[in-house]
Amino acid sequence: MDFKEIIASRRSIRKYKPENPPEEWVEELVDCARQAPSPSNRQPVGIVKIESEERKNALHEAMVKGRDELLDACEKQGNKKMKNRINVYYRYADFMFSAPWLFLLGTVSSKPGFAEHLKQAGLTEDGNQEQAPDDITVGLYLGNMLSKAAELGLGTCVLTAPMKFIPNISEILGLSDMQPKCFLTAGYPDEDPKMPTRKPVEEILERI
Ligand SMILES: Cc1cc2nc3c(=O)[nH]c(=O)nc-3n(C[C@H](O)[C@H](O)[C@H](O)COP(=O)(O)O)c2cc1C
Repeated sequence: MDFKEIIASRRSIRKYKPENPPEEWVEELVDCARQAPSPSNRQPVGIVKIESEERKNALHEAMVKGRDELLDACEKQGNKKMKNRINVYYRYADFMFSAPWLFLLGTVSSKPGFAEHLKQAGLTEDGNQEQAPDDITVGLYLGNMLSKAAELGLGTCVLTAPMKFIPNISEILGLSDMQPKCFLTAGYPDEDPKMPTRKPVEEILERI
């Protein structure tokens, strides 16, 4: 498959075969991730493979608790539509615990960037390092991992829905220096979803 075929063949997979892919492919995925560009080459991204059943169970419990709290709040509001929506999104989060591989990606502290240098020189008011460049970098790491996984015949799915159910992921996992951004599942696909529609090039691209 050429590059375009690989990226076009990739689908979000939510049902996996139970077999584990070869463990050395984990390093292969991360090796591809780290080739991504980053602001001033700061490489502000961390990738955690969550293997411990104890930690997975702790996350799962927190996810159920988070969902139940949201459902209770909906019940009080009498908001049935939102209740259904929460249950749907819960299903789009909960499957991550049945995937052979589960990763967490997030931003980690790194050298000061341009925004911080400007602030330190007293040239801007902005006290916080801007998050956007680091978040973009997480996306670039993900893109490389997803493409490599597709080339290896692995299914993957990026998940951010769990973040809405579990507010304290770092605390539960004991990760003091990570701002979690998304989970990523991977494994051999046990489903073959159709390609969802995409906007045509002309709708996305504007020449001005
Ligand atoms: C940032 C991001 C967050 C996503 N969050 C979830 C999620 O929480 N749960 C889920 O099942 N899919 C999630 N997805 C997958 C999308 O639903 C999927 O990419 C989209 O429907 C297009 O399908 P495709 O990936 O098969 O092309 C997410 C994708 C991205 C890029």
